[in-house]
Amino acid sequence: MPYWPRVRVEIDEMVNRQFETPEFKRLFAVPLTPRRLEVYRHHMTYYGSNRRDCWAMVMSKAPLGVKRAIWEHEKDELIHDERMGKAHVTEEDLKEFDESGLSPGARAAFYAWLYCAREKPWLEGLVYSHILERRNNGAIVRGGGLTERWARKQMAELGKSEAELDVQTQVHAVADREHSDIFEPIFERYVVDETSARAVVEAARDGLLIDRALRGAIAGAMLEVEGPPLGTETGPRGGIPG
Ligand SMILES: [Fe+2]
Ligand SMILES: [Fe+2]
Repeated sequence: MPYWPRVRVEIDEMVNRQFETPEFKRLFAVPLTPRRLEVYRHHMTYYGSNRRDCWAMVMSKAPLGVKRAIWEHEKDELIHDERMGKAHVTEEDLKEFDESGLSPGARAAFYAWLYCAREKPWLEGLVYSHILERRNNGAIVRGGGLTERWARKQMAELGKSEAELDVQTQVHAVADREHSDIFEPIFERYVVDETSARAVVEAARDGLLIDRALRGAIAGAMLEVEGPPLGTETGPRGGIPG
C-alpha cells in the first residue's frame, strides 16, 4: 500500500484547516498599523532564527540523503538567497530587535519546537519544521499560504504595493513552495509503513498546534500596541470585534 500519498492528502488537509483555527483567525483580524507590523517582523525574525536551530538539530541525526536535502534547503535560509540578496535571517536582522521583547507565548512556542527537533526521532523532527513550509505553500493551501495572505492583508490595510512589502514577505510568498517540495522524495522513501505514516501525521498535527500557539501570541502582542486600552476592546483581553 502506498503510504505517503495517503499521508500527504491528510497533512495537506491539516495545513488548509490551519487557517480556520481561532488563532489564525485572530491573527488575520488584527487591524494593521505600521507599529503592529513591526511587532510581527520582530517575532518573525526570531522565528527565522528558531527555524535554523531546529533544522540543524534534525540534520544532526538524519540519514545522509536527508542531511543533503536539509543542507540544500538551508543554503537559501542560512547562506544566501539570490532573490533576497542575503540569507533569510542574518546577525544584522537579529540585532534590529531585542529578543527579550518577544511575547511569552512566542518564546514558549520556540522552546517547544526546539524540544521536538532535539528529542523526537529524525523523521518526526523533520515534519515539525517541514509542516510550517507546507502551510506556507500556495500550491497546497487553497487561497494562499500564510505569507501570501499576510502580503495581501498588508496591501489591503496599509495601502502597500507589492514592491513596498518587506523582502522577507516578498520572497517567502514563493520560496516555501520550493522548500516544501525538496522533501517530497524523502517522504516517498521513508513513509513506508503504518508506524512511519502515523508518526508523520502526529508530528504534523502537533507542529501545527505549536504554530497556532505562536500566531495567537503574535496577535495578542500586536493588539497591545496602538490599540484601545486593554479591557475596553470587544471580547476577552486582546479581543477582536466581530
Ligand atoms: Fe526562509
Ligand atoms: Fe524554508
